[in-house]
Amino acid sequence: MAIIKKFRIKSFKNKNSIVEFENISLSYGSRLILDNINFKINEGQIFGMLGPNGVGKSTIFNLITGLITPGSGKIKIAGEDVNNYPIYLRTKRFKLGYVPQYGGYFNDLTLHDNLKAISEIVIDKKNYRNERINYLISKFELENLKDVKAKFLSGGQKKKLVIALSLLGEPRVLLLDECFAALDVLTIKMLQEIIVNLQNENRITICICDHQARDLLACVDVAMILSNGKIIAEDTPSNLVKNINARDAYFGDNFKFN
Ligand SMILES: Nc1ncnc2c1ncn2[C@@H]1O[C@H](COP(=O)(O)OP(=O)(O)O)[C@@H](O)[C@H]1O
Ligand SMILES: [Mg+2]
Repeated sequence: MAIIKKFRIKSFKNKNSIVEFENISLSYGSRLILDNINFKINEGQIFGMLGPNGVGKSTIFNLITGLITPGSGKIKIAGEDVNNYPIYLRTKRFKLGYVPQYGGYFNDLTLHDNLKAISEIVIDKKNYRNERINYLISKFELENLKDVKAKFLSGGQKKKLVIALSLLGEPRVLLLDECFAALDVLTIKMLQEIIVNLQNENRITICICDHQARDLLACVDVAMILSNGKIIAEDTPSNLVKNINARDAYFGDNFKFN
């Protein structure tokens, strides 16, 4: 945590909520997955979602992007009720970027051609596409990998590529689904720095989820813990690990974080 913390801004003064869930419930068949949940992600925040596998974290991302609609309740983005907005409208209007847990790139295209293909969809101004691609290649130090097919990249390099793809459209909000899963310690550290840097330098609001606490808590401002369809705690990392409900339902007694 110490290394990441150096990069942190201490507080995010802007309290405008950019994503808001009001009394959201969602069932698959007879299984209630989300049970009347309420939360807000404030502009400029790095917001974490923690909870065991299958608790509904990816479902929440799907609700934000519009891939699925809630059984009941209201989803607001930048204050607007978006329940009836389709995916493309949410993405364009509110500038949502999404990094899925798996995939998100074309296996048989080179790293550069992946960026080129997506730039043609998300960047309207033709003559700006190359500039944006080159900026992201240089930001993520991907120059040497430009001509490598995506399927031959390492796990961490693939993650960088998918994050770069999600940034082509200059998102205001970036959703990262389990982006630390199956990566080594150094790669995780590199991604944490990228994430904090996107907040600090590019002023992007970030929502990130993981089923493991440690890597996520090292780079978020606040996090919530989901358990059995409910939000059982929401706080800063240091308060969250002391929270009795969070310890009982999620961290366990032996969890330490410093
Ligand atoms: N399309 C679907 N149909 C039926 N059940 C689903 C579907 N998508 C997700 N689920 C169920 O919803 C629950 C939450 O899934 P998910 O949001 O993917 O969990 P997480 O991302 O926290 O691991 C799981 O129990 C999963 O089996
Ligand atoms: Mg998931």
